Amino acid sequence: MSGRVKLGVLVSGGGSNLQALLDACARPDFPAEVALVVCNVPTAFALQRAREAGVETRVLDHKGQASRADFERALGDALVAAGVEWVCLAGFMRLLGADFLDRFPGRVLNIHPSLLPAFPGLHAQRQALDQGVKVAGCTVHFVDAGMDTGPIIAQAAVPVLPGDDEAALSARILAEEHRLYPLVVRLAVTGGVRLEAGRVVTSLGPAVGGLSLRNPGEPG
Ligand code: GRF
Repeated sequence: MSGRVKLGVLVSGGGSNLQALLDACARPDFPAEVALVVCNVPTAFALQRAREAGVETRVLDHKGQASRADFERALGDALVAAGVEWVCLAGFMRLLGADFLDRFPGRVLNIHPSLLPAFPGLHAQRQALDQGVKVAGCTVHFVDAGMDTGPIIAQAAVPVLPGDDEAALSARILAEEHRLYPLVVRLAVTGGVRLEAGRVVTSLGPAVGGLSLRNPGEPG
């Protein structure tokens, strides 16, 4: 379908969130399409998912680049060449700097398997279990140059159940990730949520589909 917003999805691993986005984009009424998948790990299963969906892929191994700046420049060039308008990080295990982010201002999203700002970085689910929290979840946020620090758009919560190990909790969170990310991408590319002066602005009222998208200070 022409006229849809072009997404670039960055991956490093299994790509189940990529799959959720591909599945969403396969629906005729979804306002975006995946124009390019870029992966920094040549053996990642995510690449296979993209190819099976008939989506263009690019392997860009950061280890083959002289510097982080070179890697990010090549990454940005590939996305721009594919006409990408919005960038979705989906299990992409590299930080991105300001030079890259400035090429897609307010148009880079990430999903993280914790209720940020709790438990940024690696092994978020293990961190949650180690701390004994009773509620865990996932967060979609705009990306800044920090580690999982950008402005939060939406979150989904799951219970931590007695006897949970990292695998069980991760699976419960992942099911919510697959629901939340396409929903937020739909909102973002249609202007329902946007970044203004470093803050998330929503134009959809206080709650959408059971997700709280209320801005701090807004009446409930
Ligand atoms: C997900 O838990 C995501 O939130 C995190 O990395 C994991 C990637 O999983 N950033 P997948 O590759 O999408 O299956």
